[in-house]
Amino acid sequence: MDNKFVLKGSIAYSVNKDTIEAIDNGYLVCENGKSRGVFKELPVEYSNCEILDYSDMLIIPGMIDLHVHAPQYTYRGLGMDCELLEWLRTYTFPEEKRYNDIDYARKMYEYFTYDMQRGFTTRAVVFGTIHTEATIELMDQLEKTGLITYVGRVNMDRNGEDGYVEKSTETSLDDTKKWLDLVNGKYKNTKPILTPRFIPTCSDELMEGLGKMSQNNDLRIQSHLSENKDEINWVKELVPKSTCYANAYEMFGTLGNDKNPSIMAHCVHSDNREIAILKEHGTYIAHCPDSNLNLCSGIAPIKKYLSEGLHVGLGTDVAGGSSLNMIQTILTAIQSSKAFSVCVNNDYTPLSIEEAFYIATMGGGEYFGKVGSFIKDYEFDALVIDDSKMKSDRNYNPSERLVRMVYNNADCVIVDKYVCGKQVYKR
Ligand code: GUN
Ligand code: FE
Repeated sequence: MDNKFVLKGSIAYSVNKDTIEAIDNGYLVCENGKSRGVFKELPVEYSNCEILDYSDMLIIPGMIDLHVHAPQYTYRGLGMDCELLEWLRTYTFPEEKRYNDIDYARKMYEYFTYDMQRGFTTRAVVFGTIHTEATIELMDQLEKTGLITYVGRVNMDRNGEDGYVEKSTETSLDDTKKWLDLVNGKYKNTKPILTPRFIPTCSDELMEGLGKMSQNNDLRIQSHLSENKDEINWVKELVPKSTCYANAYEMFGTLGNDKNPSIMAHCVHSDNREIAILKEHGTYIAHCPDSNLNLCSGIAPIKKYLSEGLHVGLGTDVAGGSSLNMIQTILTAIQSSKAFSVCVNNDYTPLSIEEAFYIATMGGGEYFGKVGSFIKDYEFDALVIDDSKMKSDRNYNPSERLVRMVYNNADCVIVDKYVCGKQVYKR
């Protein structure tokens, strides 16, 4: 493919959290992996570019999955009657333990990467397991998909059920360094990210060690925060000096900064004090509504986080969430916020389609740079979608087609998918 080409079709993309730009029969220009903008008429300077005519299709930015567990993909949907801590002990840790077997890991990760390549996601931030070899296998496989990812080898030196735990704090830190050395410079699209699972499975010494490692090596961190009430009470016992859960991460230097922001998944039960801490550090909240409903964790007040100016992206959190489908996850974000406004707080307005689409694209995309929109100079991550199965004789405009896709994603088929201007999948 040339480094300059044009997609023609019905184009919809966020420009901020409240606005979706929509152009019927428009032209989206890609040059050197970046968007040159969206046009009603093709500017003369691009008139001799190759035009891929998708006139009947919907064209939107690629989705950013800010939180997903690759080794949990193959048992998604199991154990959904449990709450978080029981689910981790009963289903998650015994399954992740099996990734010690590299042949098992390779096969299972093939199922994950195959579906990721064909799905709505163009970029993701991914948890592996505590195993170095399996995590490198996952990174090798993801690199081949052309998707852009951060991948973490998980740290946990305590409270692992069924022997799923690293031998000691020292081995956890040493093995992390060895893993970083092994992957250093190996990939173009795949970056390592430090991944303390969450405070209940990481000792103070381990957290401090990872905090230092991130600061000394400009490495980012991902973890979980304030997902479930029992988890939060447990953290209070484990780190008695902390003023709140976020403060415990802060004490260990693991909340990041504007240059190397951390991602904290969930933040279902974050109070104003916690919100202020996240804001100060420029932390990204990965909102995982499907997981939060499945595990009865609660409903995160995302509208409030957006209005406070926090960074918010969307995550599937497979297998807490039972699907990798980000369009379906957008719908769950909207529906759960509607339930919150009706059943919990009548003063709370539900997330709009604009806000929910924004967090799935631009909100999470910002974590990767200028990503998640077709505004000029944004990296060219695009999905071409065939929505013709939703038959109608009416002519819907691109905004209407986008909403209909969110509410009926099963009837929409990905036809073509680009990351940084490169085609990574074609139907
Ligand atoms: N908290 C710690 N580990 C996990 C996990 O694997 N999934 C979810 N949803 N929450 C966690
Ligand atoms: Fe998670």
